[in-house]
Amino acid sequence: MGDGASTVVASAPGKCILFGEHAVVFGQPAVAVAIEQRLTVTMRPANSWSVDGSALNPQKHPHIAMLKERYLGDDAPPMALHLQGDIPRASGLGSSAALSAAVGAAMAHLAHPSQALDRNQLSEIAHQAEANAQMGRASPMDTSTSVEGGIVVLSDRHETVANHAYTRTLTTPEGERRWEVHRMEAPEDEVYLVLGNTGVHAPTSQQVALVAETVSKHPERMNDILAIGTVARRGLEALTQGDYDAVGRAMSENHLLLRGLGVSSPELESLIQAALPTSLGVKLTGAGGGGCMVALTRTPKETSEAIELAGGRTLISRLGNEGVRLEPSPNNRS
Ligand code: MEV
Repeated sequence: MGDGASTVVASAPGKCILFGEHAVVFGQPAVAVAIEQRLTVTMRPANSWSVDGSALNPQKHPHIAMLKERYLGDDAPPMALHLQGDIPRASGLGSSAALSAAVGAAMAHLAHPSQALDRNQLSEIAHQAEANAQMGRASPMDTSTSVEGGIVVLSDRHETVANHAYTRTLTTPEGERRWEVHRMEAPEDEVYLVLGNTGVHAPTSQQVALVAETVSKHPERMNDILAIGTVARRGLEALTQGDYDAVGRAMSENHLLLRGLGVSSPELESLIQAALPTSLGVKLTGAGGGGCMVALTRTPKETSEAIELAGGRTLISRLGNEGVRLEPSPNNRS
């Protein structure tokens, strides 16, 4: 621990996957962007550890419990955590990764107030926390995007169009996985993401397990996983050229493959249909089964209205926002 506990505030963005969810768990390429919506944690000295007024419980708060153990150990002076923000929970927008990133950054600052945040270490610990919560199957997509910000590209190889940041590995129930994690900035353009929330919660761990089961029962479905990887690579190419029309086409193609894998839902399909006429591309984003869809559009107001008329709740974001950061507070020193 550092020199006495004090109030620390940190925030981290949610994420939106443009290409490659689910296939990325099998090591295929994927692209995600940090969105404008953020989660903020305020940690204040207290008499006992708590989260929004309830005692910190490792069953209920597994990510926070693991981060506390890794950054602060057992003897750390207790803190009360207060969470707030505008990332809807359990909706495919990376709320749990943002929680890990923000809480991890705050705890790292508490432990070593004068040191700059070690993003590599934080994203590794946050990925482990996510993997534990997802029955051992999690790519570093959500956690790296929330920690790094901008656009994050995962691949089975070093990609020349993005800056290589680090390599991540994980032993999943299906075998060893390895991801090369890259970062890039979004090419400037007047394009927006409209995120449409179905309001239906489908736990990521269950959706990921469903795909693992499908591929194990029907090994030929691995071709769909590989096809998602091919589309993701094409989408990445279009993104680096700033060709957002082609980015949109690849997103819609990606959605058809995800639907074929069984991870869409009637609610997602109806929001996607509503957004199509005013969008460059539309797909589910995240684990699916409910949660959110995303539309890439030049007319966010029209697209958002169409989604809301179909019963979805919308958020609008530009592509690529700042990653985890400490927020001003009387005691933050960096
Ligand atoms: C969830 O946001 C994305 C998935 O690909 C799971 C993962 O990457 O760990 C479905």
